[in-house]
Amino acid sequence: MGYWADVDLKKVPEIKVVPPGPQSENYHNRANRYMKGYSSQVQLFPVVFEKGHGCTLTDVDGNTYIDFSSGIYVTSLGHCHPKVSEAVAKHAKTLMNCHDFTTPVKTKLLEKLASVTPGDLNGIQLYDSGTTAVEAGLRAMRAATGRFEFISFHRDFHGKTMGAVSLARVDRTQGMRAPGFFLVPRGYCYRCAFNMKYPECKHYCVDYIETVIKEETSGQLAGIVLEPIQGWAGSIIPPDGWIQKIRKLCDKYKMLLMADEVLTCMGRTGKMFAMENWDTVPDVMTLGKSFGNGFPVTAMILSEKYKDSLEKISASTSYGGNPMACAAALASIEVIEEENLLGHSADLGNYILGLLEKIKAVHPIVGDVRGKGCLLGIELVKDRKTKEPFEEAGKLVYKKAFAKGLAWMPAGHNLRLSPPIIMSKEMAAKGIGIIEEAIGETEKELCFK
Ligand SMILES: Cc1ncc(COP(=O)(O)O)c(C=O)c1O
Repeated sequence: MGYWADVDLKKVPEIKVVPPGPQSENYHNRANRYMKGYSSQVQLFPVVFEKGHGCTLTDVDGNTYIDFSSGIYVTSLGHCHPKVSEAVAKHAKTLMNCHDFTTPVKTKLLEKLASVTPGDLNGIQLYDSGTTAVEAGLRAMRAATGRFEFISFHRDFHGKTMGAVSLARVDRTQGMRAPGFFLVPRGYCYRCAFNMKYPECKHYCVDYIETVIKEETSGQLAGIVLEPIQGWAGSIIPPDGWIQKIRKLCDKYKMLLMADEVLTCMGRTGKMFAMENWDTVPDVMTLGKSFGNGFPVTAMILSEKYKDSLEKISASTSYGGNPMACAAALASIEVIEEENLLGHSADLGNYILGLLEKIKAVHPIVGDVRGKGCLLGIELVKDRKTKEPFEEAGKLVYKKAFAKGLAWMPAGHNLRLSPPIIMSKEMAAKGIGIIEEAIGETEKELCFK
């Protein structure tokens, strides 16, 4: 019996006051005088949350929502999982920080983590945000190869520090990309950058990377950095063989492959790590988000082959690997194992994807649905032939579903679903029912006027 079992489905969602209600408005407006730069998730629906329990969230006006966001892919084991909360509380009462000295709980976490990582990934450093783990990965790749250039992919997201920003699309506010960073199109078959069709294309997008290597880089490539599945861009899953072909390319050019698993780790995609969906072991892997199920703890993990380079890049930070963080991560891995959540995540994801396929069959604005485990997405289009993105519909569907009691994530014309991997099928079906209603109403409003 999992932690989700104590929720009475008749009582969720429960909307008592039209959200965002007066209390939400009050708190948000007061905060908004100081805090700027909210995500579109908040800007479009500025509700103020007070409590989280399992797969539900409650706002300050007393409305309870089904959670299809897990924060932002963070609370995969549900909000306040008792085992994780107790582990953090225990260490909050005994020892909160002792720099990078070893503690018993850190030792146990390192041993546990090394036992679940694939291949020879066992050189570990602990950090406190996804972006700092990514930066450590870049430093490790440079230290291991003695080279300094990187290739990454269009619309991947790796965080907001300068190196991480240089791996992604920069806009005017961020200024220019640091030298030595090169971007290439991804294997995104619904919108192929080369107007080709999979599988006849034979992953031409990977062959194209060789052109960039030859024509644009100085041949000083430390490696390729990728999100195994794009999260921020809209849950975009590469075609089979794409990841494996990139692995081969890295081997050919003697460069490292870094899988940024900040968003996809710890069962989110039905495997402990998303790269396992394609039986591929990267040289560097970053973990974050649900690694500590809400407590800020992240990791950069390097292959045994390059472990000596870890000595060259100091691992010590103010908060990385503090006892509370290690306890949260250790407890989270134990919960995944004890509750057999990898199998559940895969099974639940398939079930949800089946429901999304049914929605696509009857709603013309749904251009594509996709998912791997509990990382799922819906792409809205004005016309299925032209595939013109339907951003207005994206916003409206997001807001309508939220108002009906579904906390989730917009991304322009894409909608992103990331339910906690402990969710029951019954609750997931309720959430999907809300989405279908919102899509139907949006179609009526925007298309069939
Ligand atoms: C793939 C990926 N890498 C890195 C990051 C940055 O993590 P953080 O926000 O914890 O710095 C994110 C955040 O969304 C992410 O999705």
